[in-house]
Amino acid sequence: MPLPDISGLLRITSEQWRAFSDRLRSIGLSQQYAASLQRLGGRPWQALQEPLLVWNLNQQDSLSAKTFALLMANLPVSQNDARSIFGHALTDLLYDCGFLTTDGQGWITSNFDLRIIDDCYVICDHLFHGGDAVMGPGSTTGVLCRLSASVGQVDLALDLGCGAGSNALALSPIANKVIATDINPRAVSLTKINLQLNDVQNVEVRESNLFDLVRGTKFDLIVHQPPFVPTSNAMCAAMFLNGGEHGDGILAQVLFQIPEYLSTNGLALVLTDLPVFDESPIEYLQRTVGPGADALLLICPAMDMDEYCIRYSSVECAMQFEDYDKRVTGRREHLEKIGLKSLHPALIAVQKRCSGTEWRDSISVPISSWQRISGSSIRTMLAVRDLLAEGLDALLASPLNFAPGLTALKAVYSSETATTIVLMSPDDMLSEPTEINLPQWELLQVIAEAPKLLTAIQEYAERIQGSADAILKDNINLLARLLHLGVLIPVRGASGGRLTNGHKEENAFGDDWKSRFIRANYKL
Ligand SMILES: C[S@@+](CC[C@H](N)C(=O)[O-])C[C@H]1O[C@@H](n2cnc3c(N)ncnc32)[C@H](O)[C@@H]1O
Repeated sequence: MPLPDISGLLRITSEQWRAFSDRLRSIGLSQQYAASLQRLGGRPWQALQEPLLVWNLNQQDSLSAKTFALLMANLPVSQNDARSIFGHALTDLLYDCGFLTTDGQGWITSNFDLRIIDDCYVICDHLFHGGDAVMGPGSTTGVLCRLSASVGQVDLALDLGCGAGSNALALSPIANKVIATDINPRAVSLTKINLQLNDVQNVEVRESNLFDLVRGTKFDLIVHQPPFVPTSNAMCAAMFLNGGEHGDGILAQVLFQIPEYLSTNGLALVLTDLPVFDESPIEYLQRTVGPGADALLLICPAMDMDEYCIRYSSVECAMQFEDYDKRVTGRREHLEKIGLKSLHPALIAVQKRCSGTEWRDSISVPISSWQRISGSSIRTMLAVRDLLAEGLDALLASPLNFAPGLTALKAVYSSETATTIVLMSPDDMLSEPTEINLPQWELLQVIAEAPKLLTAIQEYAERIQGSADAILKDNINLLARLLHLGVLIPVRGASGGRLTNGHKEENAFGDDWKSRFIRANYKL
C-alpha cells in the first residue's frame, strides 16, 4: 500500500502545529487516557481487539474518545465529529495538507498514526504501509526513551536512526543539544514535524547513513534502536524492521563504530533483539564492539520464535490478513534456514574507555524488569565493573559506600543464635536480596565511613585486633559480590570518576537509618 504524501505536512507552520497539539491537549488526549484504551496488549492482537475497542469508545461517546478513534486507532469519524474535534479552520487545514482524508460519504480518517510518549505527541506512519513507513514509539521505543531520559544531564546527545524522533524528544530535556539522524528522508521530515508539534528547539535533524553526517563529533550519549528483525531479500520487509539476513546487519556496524563517536565517559544505549548463533552473547560483544570501550549486556530470556514471527508479520499486515499465512511461515522458515538458535530482547550499554582494561559483561534480566531499570542504575552497573576491572589496587584506593535506597533487615532465625543481615539493593539494580553476618555488616559500616577501602580495612583490623591482610583475603570476594549486586557502589573523588552523584558524605540510610534497620523474627 503506497505511503501517504508527506509534502503537505511540511508546509504547515510551527504555530499551526502548536495549535494542533494545544487542541489535542485541551480535549484530554493524554498518555494516560490513551493507555487506558490500549491496555489490551500488543499489536498482534489489534484486529481481534478492534470490536471491543469500538464498543468501549462508543460507551464513552466523548470528544476525547472520538479523537482517539480518529488519530490513534485508525477508525473513521463523521465530518461533524472531525469539526467538533479540531474546529473549522484546523479541520480544513488538516484536510488540505493531506493529514486527514475523506471517503466522500461523510467519513473522515487520518492518513497518519499518532502516538504519545512522555506527554509528547508523535506523528508517524501506519506500519502496515511497509516500505519506508516511519515507526513511532511502541513498547521497545518506550523502554529506550525512559532509560535515556534518566541517565542524567549531558551536553551533546545523538538519536541514531531516529524514526519519528521519539528518542530525540525524550533526550531534549536532558541534553543541551541533540542531533537526530536517519537514512530515511521521510523519517527526517516526520522528526522535524514532531519537534514543531512539541515546541522543541534544541534538536537538529540530519539525513544520514549511520554516522556519515556526524563524522568527527563526540557525543556524551548515543541512543539507538536498529532495525533488528532477521529478513531475507525475498521478504521485502519495511525499512524500520529490516535487520538484514541475520538481524544484526546494522547492529554490528553500529557497535563497531560507536566508541569512535563517544566523548570521554560517554555512554551509548542500544536496544535490540540479539540473535544468537554459535557464539555466546559475550563472545558476540567481544567480536563486534569496537576498540576503546567497555560493554555491558542486559539480556532477557529467549523469545518464542513462533510468537516472534506472528508479532512482526502482523505488524506488516495490520487488518488485512490475506497474505498473512505466507508472511508468517516465510519468516519462520527464514529463522530456521539461517540456523538461529535463539533471539533475546537486549540492551547493550557501551561506555568510552580512556585507559586501563576493557571489559565485556552480561546480566540476565527477566523481560518484566525492563520497567525497573533506570539510566542511572546502568551508570552504576558500569562504574562497578569498571572499578573491578581495574584490579585490587584501584579497589583499595576507592571509597565505597552503600547504594542510596539500600534496605538492611536484621533477621534472627529461631533455629540459629547468629544474627543475619539481609541486604536488599535498590530496585533498579535488579538483584536478589543477599545475606551477610553481623561481623561482615560491621565491616561494611566502617567501609562506608572511610575515605578509601584500604583505610577501612586497616581501621577494622585495629578495632578487632586482627590482621588487615587476613580481613582483606577473607572479604574480597564478598565485597566484589556486593558491588555486583549494587549493595555497595564506588564513589570516586572529583578526578576522573564516572559516577558523579556520590553519596560519600551522607550515610546511605540517611539520618533515620536506625529506623530502617528492622528487626524481624523468621520462624523456620
Ligand atoms: C527500529 S527503527 C527505530 C526508530 C526510533 N529510533 C525508535 O526507537 O522508535 C530503526 C530506524 O533506523 C533507521 N535506519 C535504518 N538503517 C539506517 C542507516 N543505515 N542509517 C541511519 N538510520 C537507519 C530506520 O529508517 C528506522 O527509522
